[in-house]
Amino acid sequence: MARLQKKVAIVTGGASGIGEAAAMLFAAEGAKVVIADMQDDNGRRVEKALGSAGLYVRTDVSRSTDVESLVRQAVAKFGRLDILFNNAGVVVVGPTIIDLSEEQFDRMISINLKGVWLGMKHAIPEMIKGGGGAIVNTASTSGMIGYVGQSGYGSSKGGVISLTRHCAIEYAAKGIRVNCVCPGSTVTPMAMGNRPGQTPEQVRERNAQGNPLLRTGMPEDVARTALFLASDDAAHVTGQIVAVDGGFTASAYRGPSPATGQKL
Ligand SMILES: NC(=O)c1ccc[n+]([C@@H]2O[C@H](COP(=O)([O-])OP(=O)(O)OC[C@H]3O[C@@H](n4cnc5c(N)ncnc54)[C@H](O)[C@@H]3O)[C@@H](O)[C@H]2O)c1
Repeated sequence: MARLQKKVAIVTGGASGIGEAAAMLFAAEGAKVVIADMQDDNGRRVEKALGSAGLYVRTDVSRSTDVESLVRQAVAKFGRLDILFNNAGVVVVGPTIIDLSEEQFDRMISINLKGVWLGMKHAIPEMIKGGGGAIVNTASTSGMIGYVGQSGYGSSKGGVISLTRHCAIEYAAKGIRVNCVCPGSTVTPMAMGNRPGQTPEQVRERNAQGNPLLRTGMPEDVARTALFLASDDAAHVTGQIVAVDGGFTASAYRGPSPATGQKL
């Protein structure tokens, strides 16, 4: 039985990486999927792959008018809104606090944090009209623990974790569940951008050595977790923060694996 039969979902950042994997998976599980992104060519490519179950809407998630229009177009096309995967994001990794520019900091807060808030703000009234809904926000392990060179990104993602809990409590009585996924290093165009000069195989190998499960994170790993949280399988789950990181944040130990000798 398809787990999202008769559901209508918006996936922000759905033209690439984790969002694209989620758009395809949600549709395979029976949902109609609205892809919100700013990469028009990729957005239309995914829309085409989804056939009659897909719609691409160019959206800057940091602009309230864009997000309002996105929700309006989703409801106009498919009649209702049940699921929001609030997943679009950008990253600057490297500069420490004194070197990160104000513009870089503002951009990450505006897209990663305010964008998630705007998605919830405009989607929730439609979900309430339909009797409830499920929101899944994408944060990051960066929002859970500290790294060198991720202060702006980590702050934006820490904010997403907090927003998830506040929204879950505010709207539980209206039948809206709100949960959050925290990917660890996951092989997507974003992750490749952080490793200039490395091949996908090199990034995969490096990532695989960086978590206790000794396997790199793939977009589908996060998409499957988002599917669970968005579906009725998670009917009694709200306000939860789920790391999809091969166990990275479960341990403070970063030495060689006792099992394999590989460095964690
Ligand atoms: N890849 C990782 O290692 C990793 C780790 C932790 C968290 N994340 C988070 O996962 C989410 C998805 O990232 P990904 O790795 O798939 O990267 P990605 O770059 O492949 O996908 C991100 C998508 O968001 C879109 N986007 C960016 N700004 C936007 C805006 N203003 N409005 C609409 N769309 C916008 C991009 O065009 C892109 O299609 C992000 O929130 C990211 O922070 C990724």
